[in-house]
Amino acid sequence: MTTTPLTADHLYATGLRGQWHPVVPSSFVAPGAMRKVTVLGEQWLLFRRSDGTLSMLADRCPHRGAPLSLGKHLGDRVACWYHGVEVETDGTVSSVPGLPGCNLEGKQLVVSLPVKEVSGAVLAYFGTEEQPQPVELTLPEPLTDPDTEAILCYAEWNVPWRYAVENLLDPMHGAFLHHDSHTMFDGDTTAKFRIRETDRGYFFEKTDQRGVNFDWVELCRTGVDWVDLSIPYPPSAGPGGPFGIVGMVRPVDAERCAVFFWRYRTVQGWQRDTWRFLYKTLIEKRHWEVLEQDRVMLEAMPADADQRENLYQHDLGVVRLRRLYRGGAEAQATA
Ligand code: FES
Ligand SMILES: [Fe+2]
Repeated sequence: MTTTPLTADHLYATGLRGQWHPVVPSSFVAPGAMRKVTVLGEQWLLFRRSDGTLSMLADRCPHRGAPLSLGKHLGDRVACWYHGVEVETDGTVSSVPGLPGCNLEGKQLVVSLPVKEVSGAVLAYFGTEEQPQPVELTLPEPLTDPDTEAILCYAEWNVPWRYAVENLLDPMHGAFLHHDSHTMFDGDTTAKFRIRETDRGYFFEKTDQRGVNFDWVELCRTGVDWVDLSIPYPPSAGPGGPFGIVGMVRPVDAERCAVFFWRYRTVQGWQRDTWRFLYKTLIEKRHWEVLEQDRVMLEAMPADADQRENLYQHDLGVVRLRRLYRGGAEAQATA
């Protein structure tokens, strides 16, 4: 999707292509609105027609490169502010008002990405030269199961995307960093971990404790990368048993990322309403506090954190993750 050569280091720093990535919550782009967004170190424009249809265009006017996001929403197309060139939602130039009949008209000159909206979030496919067409996307079951109630929480962090994913593949931090939280105060502060392969990724789990703290996590690569994990809940937290989290990370650029956490529970009927109510009035605030602990720690990590480490057994999940992403970046590098 890009014409500049991509090195493995750049891909590793800004995020892999050839897959779907979460972009923003759907609510960030109201009908009839547009919004600029940085993804994988590139500038994009989300554009929603008044009927709700969403498009994602490179935020770059095909004339002389001005950001289309500074332009005007014309309902089914955007007009660049600089000289008024109009671009349709599939990236085709529909009009050059300053020079009618100009040969730019009718040409598809702006990249337009495939998008999908899932459980309150926008996902987009970022192609590679070998794989320009979208790969098959299998969505996380908790986001598609009608008996599961999932509530999206979104935040932007000054943290490289890899560190945010590594944090999720590191369950042991629950017993320390989140020790003073309402859900992760309990359980052993020592553990042995193992990796268990699956056909879509791997589990990284404690061998001697389950259902007490943050005891396991599964990395899933199903066209989009996501993790599933579960945190036990006390009975006071209402119906639905353990509390699950589906997590995704959007690389913004080499230094920043956005995190998507769907908090989910298997609940039906009136229990669903109870759970939603409890979550909104009581539990959500506590979860933000936990998430803040992650943010504070990760934003404070030095830039060369992964260059000077002394890893031990609990870091096998992180090591595996790095091998996957580093290998992927090398395979996709065009330079
Ligand atoms: S740069 Fe957009 S119309 Fe000229
Ligand atoms: Fe955490």
